[in-house]
Amino acid sequence: MQKLAIQGGFRLNGEVRISGAKNAALPILCAGLLSSEPLQLGNVPDMNDVATMCRLLRQMGVAIEVNGGQVTLSAAQVDKLEAPYDMVKTMRAAILVLGPLAARFGEARVSLPGGCAIGSRPVDLHIKGLQAMGAEIHIEHGYIHAQVPRGTGAKRLRGARIFFDLVSVTGTENLMMAATLADGVTVLENAAREPEVVDLAHCLIAMGARIEGAGSDTITITGVEKLHGASHNVMPDRIESGTFLVAAAAAGGNITLTDARADIMENVLEKLQEAGAIIKVSGSTINLHMNRRPKAVNVRTAPYPAFPTDMQAQFMALNCIAEGSAMVVETIFENRFMHVQELRRLGAQIDVEGNTAVVKGCAQLEGATIMATDLRASACLVIAGLVAQGETVVDRIYHLDRGYEHIEAKLSALGAQIRRVK
Ligand code: UD1
Repeated sequence: MQKLAIQGGFRLNGEVRISGAKNAALPILCAGLLSSEPLQLGNVPDMNDVATMCRLLRQMGVAIEVNGGQVTLSAAQVDKLEAPYDMVKTMRAAILVLGPLAARFGEARVSLPGGCAIGSRPVDLHIKGLQAMGAEIHIEHGYIHAQVPRGTGAKRLRGARIFFDLVSVTGTENLMMAATLADGVTVLENAAREPEVVDLAHCLIAMGARIEGAGSDTITITGVEKLHGASHNVMPDRIESGTFLVAAAAAGGNITLTDARADIMENVLEKLQEAGAIIKVSGSTINLHMNRRPKAVNVRTAPYPAFPTDMQAQFMALNCIAEGSAMVVETIFENRFMHVQELRRLGAQIDVEGNTAVVKGCAQLEGATIMATDLRASACLVIAGLVAQGETVVDRIYHLDRGYEHIEAKLSALGAQIRRVK
């Protein structure tokens, strides 16, 4: 199993290019299933979740050509309408094939994701939404089996008004994709407003879909007969951007992100300023300068545009070495404090009560061997390693490789002492 060995105490300086967003690329790859014509994508990040999604789509019969960040999908001959357990269990986002398959082929078999490191994460809202659109759903042998009954003509979903009890990002994306090929109008209420939902909508609109309101909590989709080929560039990754900025705010230094978008990370940038960082935005670059020990900052996660749960762990690492104490409240996932135990091994002072962690900043963490438990927790541990005294070894970094493109190369280029140990 691969590990990262990090020598702490080095400031970060220089420029880093931000990759395409994982959470936009995954649904957009699935959008390729909605048309028999090719979908050409640019700025697709090179990471394991993207590779897993491509493997899954290929298994279904989708032809995929990858050339650096350019990916062309052709779903002219899809012959297996199934996402097997071994893929869904490693990558929950595989559930995103459910809506497109049901919409275009009238049938899908997708494994139930089951539990994961950050909680039970059910998919009931995806299922209820498809049922409201006329799909018959049976759960058999751990699989969701969706079937669209044949009406007078082809098997087609029908438009519906769907209210989400909880804001769900992939739930919104799955049903938005399904609705593009349904008969009639679908209205998604209490929809997720995440920028990745908007990026997917832009791609679908380029394919001929009729979508209004993406980015607001009400999305209206008027189904069309079929979608056509298109090209689309994946948006920049706001979580990767935030991770590098927090790393530099914790370790100190002066870094510039290029190909980034500040307009979709206002909350995170404000928190960094509160911690004492000086931030300058110019076009698609974000510069952060940090010349002091950070001040502790309270964060409370909630759906966009509030503070993202995917940045919670990184800010926890920052707070560990900050001046003062801070409260970190996690309202999205029930078990997303797995990194706390590992941070404590480095000497961090954190108390957890329910969904609230109280972090008392200490002057110095001490390097140790620690274990990554999920994707963003891994990023948090890397940040902790960058500021800890001596060597920190982060074990089980396959989590990190799922969702960060070349993270250790990018950090090394900024002056971090980090190497992969096989
Ligand atoms: C997406 C992101 C993930 C991010 C999360 C929250 C992708 C590929 N992943 O995950 O990085 O952390 O949004 O911003 O985009 N829920 C239900 N029933 C459902 C669906 C969700 O109860 O059918 C609950 C979940 O358990 C969770 C909350 O709703 O408590 C939000 O989850 P959701 O937005 O669906 O997360 P994902 O889309 O899986």
